[in-house]
Amino acid sequence: MNYSIQDIRAALGTCSRLSLADLPTPLTECARLAKTLGGPRLLVKREDQTGLAFGGNKVREFEYSVAPAVEEGYDVLLHGAASQSNQSRLTAAVAAKLGMKAVMVGRKDEYATPVNGNLLLAHLFGATVHLIEREKEKEAILANLKAEGHRVYNTSSDGYYYRSVSYVDGFLELWEQVQALDVQPDAIYVCAGVHTHTGLVVGAKALGVDVRIIGISPSPQDDAKKNVQLADVANEVCKILELDLHFTACDFESYGAYAGPAYGVLTPQAREAVLLAAQTEGLLLDPVYAGKTFGALIDHIRTGWYAEDQTAIFVHTGGTPALFAYGDELMAGDP
Ligand SMILES: Cc1ncc(COP(=O)(O)O)c(C=O)c1O
Repeated sequence: MNYSIQDIRAALGTCSRLSLADLPTPLTECARLAKTLGGPRLLVKREDQTGLAFGGNKVREFEYSVAPAVEEGYDVLLHGAASQSNQSRLTAAVAAKLGMKAVMVGRKDEYATPVNGNLLLAHLFGATVHLIEREKEKEAILANLKAEGHRVYNTSSDGYYYRSVSYVDGFLELWEQVQALDVQPDAIYVCAGVHTHTGLVVGAKALGVDVRIIGISPSPQDDAKKNVQLADVANEVCKILELDLHFTACDFESYGAYAGPAYGVLTPQAREAVLLAAQTEGLLLDPVYAGKTFGALIDHIRTGWYAEDQTAIFVHTGGTPALFAYGDELMAGDP
């Protein structure tokens, strides 16, 4: 079943929402980058420009996913991942903006010292930062917070499906911009974590838009399993928005082949993508997410997936503060 933009906006309007992001984000033509690659027309959806705290997709996601924390009286926003986590940085920034306490439980990994990039920003936003070596330490930190009487909202797991809901809204925004430009995109590239990719796919199917949405994973994955996982999330989103749609793995196209050996490892393709975007457009990608995704698009262009009269949209999900923590690796060799 197809829905109108108004129908889907009405469904989104039933969800609680904070106002955190500068929206709409721009959809920018990158003609020099396209010409350099000799490939399709390239438009970049600037989700790195969502405004708050160097922006990124989490600002849009948190509008929906953190709203229940405010409504239900939680006083701590907690997040834990890699030391250069964008989500930790934005958890800290959003907590500061909402007058809540932020706790980051990051991994003591190779990008934790010297303090730089996202980790530096988490400190500046006033987060209590724990860098741990064993997952078990996290449980003790959580238990202490609870014993002190805090109500702890984990921005990874709490409000989980609402993060994808936010990108249904993101798709409507993108599609209105695409229509205003009178283009018919042949493909949309996005980092395939979970939520941005899923929300875009749900938005497209709900509107009845036939466009190929290609997700590029920042981590090695079993593509078939990942597509099943994304379809499961999409079906939960449909329940929330009461959309009469059903998703299967066939609705998703995601690739782990561009991740390199592990999450967070700078691949030669991602490094090339970062340098090329910077040097043809003054456009900053990041080394962990957008760089790998754009690296995949470059590979697809070079291997003939697209003709010059086609159009590809690249959704830039942000993450640029991590550039500073990857400075040595980005500068290794000839920039
Ligand atoms: C810059 C950036 N892009 C993409 C992602 C993937 O996010 P999601 O699964 O919410 O789409 C992340 C997640 O941390 C991120 O920081």
